[in-house]
Amino acid sequence: MPRTSGKRDLLSVTDIAADLGPLLARATRLKAERHRGAVRATRPGRNLAMIFEKPSTRTRTSFEVAMTDLGGHALYLSSKDLQLGRGETIADTARVLSRFVDAICYRAFRHADMVELARWATVPVVNALDDLEHPCQIVADLLTMHQRWKGRFRGHRLAWVGDGNNVLHSLLLGSAAVGLDLTAAVPIGYDPRPDVLGAARALAEKSKATIEVVRDPREAVRDADAVYTDVWVSMGDEADREAREAAFRGYQVNDDLLARARPAAFVLHDLPAHRGQEITDSVLDGPRSAAWDQAENRLHAQKAILERLLPPARGRRGGD
Ligand code: CP
Ligand code: NVA
Repeated sequence: MPRTSGKRDLLSVTDIAADLGPLLARATRLKAERHRGAVRATRPGRNLAMIFEKPSTRTRTSFEVAMTDLGGHALYLSSKDLQLGRGETIADTARVLSRFVDAICYRAFRHADMVELARWATVPVVNALDDLEHPCQIVADLLTMHQRWKGRFRGHRLAWVGDGNNVLHSLLLGSAAVGLDLTAAVPIGYDPRPDVLGAARALAEKSKATIEVVRDPREAVRDADAVYTDVWVSMGDEADREAREAAFRGYQVNDDLLARARPAAFVLHDLPAHRGQEITDSVLDGPRSAAWDQAENRLHAQKAILERLLPPARGRRGGD
């Protein structure tokens, strides 16, 4: 039977929806401390296992550096090199790793596998991206907007241009939780999942945010304070590449589209970018690009997340 130890997992933005304010405040402070060269090891001796089924530059590096900054250690485990790649079950992997480490972060193809790992692990599990969500990314994105808007989400408008994918799912939930208005322009056939949209709308009712899905990128970007885009072909969607590239033509964030946003609007991209597809060089490298701050913020967000999930006092869960 799976063990339930009252541990906190972060599988979805909904798991931290009520905590985003304190998380962003802590991440802001951790960022200022790091910029001053005053990093404090608040989680000495803690170990994080990081299972990756897909490639990663930012998530892997930011988690690893975050653990080092906090005084702990991170282990990169490619699923291909684990016995998982030879058929050991997720449940058995979760139970064994829980005897060694204090938390597990997991980048998975299937959300069902994420849930299975969390079900059997006796330590917190963090979703480092799957086909449904990318919650840690959204903490960094909200941090980027929070800093640029001097701590105010309400009254700002965020536009999404592109696929109704994992990043949009988490962004819908995160925007709704903090009271940020979000209009997503997505082509027919690439809508966000109705259950995620429903959960976001339920959060938005409480925060008084508006959440809209439209077809025309110009409509989404009109009067926007920030414009966010992501790849047209996510990891795992490669078989659909041709159909996707055809469907998303016209969903490029370029100078013409950006001219329809507010003059102070900035551009977000979770990266990696496919330059010339969803975003042009001139936008990504231009003065309105916030993508590089956004990438850096992964580190500060990750540290705030890890502090929240890892108790300061050491306590090994396990058997005799
Ligand atoms: N944005 C993001 O998650 O990047 P990586 O795939 O490089 O981790
Ligand atoms: N939607 C993209 C995000 C990459 C960080 C993907 O899943 O590949």
